[in-house]
Amino acid sequence: MGRRGKTRKKRKKKDRKRGRSAAAADRHELYELAVQEPLADCELLDQAWKDIRGRLPKSIREDFCGTAIMSIEWVKYRPGNTAVGIDLDEEVLAIGEQRIRKRLAPADRKRIKLLHEDVLKAKTPKVDSVLALNFSHFIFKTRRKLKQYYKRAYDALKDDGLFMLDAYGGSDAFVEDDEDREIDGFTYVWDTNLYNPITGDVIQHIHFRFPDGSALNEAFTYEWRLWTLPELQEVLKEAGFKDVVVYWEGTDEDGEGNGEWASTRRGEACEGWFAYLFAAK
Ligand SMILES: C[S@@+](CC[C@H](N)C(=O)[O-])C[C@H]1O[C@@H](n2cnc3c(N)ncnc32)[C@H](O)[C@@H]1O
Repeated sequence: MGRRGKTRKKRKKKDRKRGRSAAAADRHELYELAVQEPLADCELLDQAWKDIRGRLPKSIREDFCGTAIMSIEWVKYRPGNTAVGIDLDEEVLAIGEQRIRKRLAPADRKRIKLLHEDVLKAKTPKVDSVLALNFSHFIFKTRRKLKQYYKRAYDALKDDGLFMLDAYGGSDAFVEDDEDREIDGFTYVWDTNLYNPITGDVIQHIHFRFPDGSALNEAFTYEWRLWTLPELQEVLKEAGFKDVVVYWEGTDEDGEGNGEWASTRRGEACEGWFAYLFAAK
């Protein structure tokens, strides 16, 4: 299904009218339009902090930050907020730096820092929340490696810190098939190219198709393990987290995601779901 499979975001009118083509496309911009909703993520982070800790967070560390969209939004979201983004890929970090210059006023840029590091090794000042979004933690395919990463996130948190992660699943996630979604001026394709039921290994491609027939095939490829929510909660607890809560999205009258999230112990066995976890130190 891909991130935001259930939720739809309204786009600007000018974007809706604009037909795009592969030659002129920027794959990172299309990725942002198709799968990222940083403002909604900031709001949910606040909501979870109010629910669980009764206060608002200030400092985040965005692991696997890519172009650092969430870190940038967090710094814009509230005066005094700070963000550290970590990624292994210098190319995406360079794009992140460009976006910081474009989207943040010079005075606000002091509150964000991008690090070219491995999340398994990085040492950073303690923060209120570590974030691992867009299923990036699925890259660790064994319980041992996943726990090693979760312990690093635990150590990077203040004493009352919350670790925010996301996950996807549902019956469609186990089927080798494509799922299309029309965005403004292009089609986003979430292609489950391989699912190995013995190991849980998955190969996911993202393709972008355009009205003129052109395409950016395999614009992004992820090789990871399709972890289930019970497994993730168990490994988080084994890594030291005291409690883990799952936030599930509500539905509208058509059964589509309504963008409202609540902590629950009862999910719905639908074809495609997307959920957040908050692990409390
Ligand atoms: C699925 S993308 C997520 C991008 C962004 N966080 C988002 O929400 O869309 C995964 C990112 O993780 C980075 N990555 C993979 N392994 C990493 C590691 N061990 N340490 C830091 N970054 C890593 C990749 O370079 C890539 O930019």
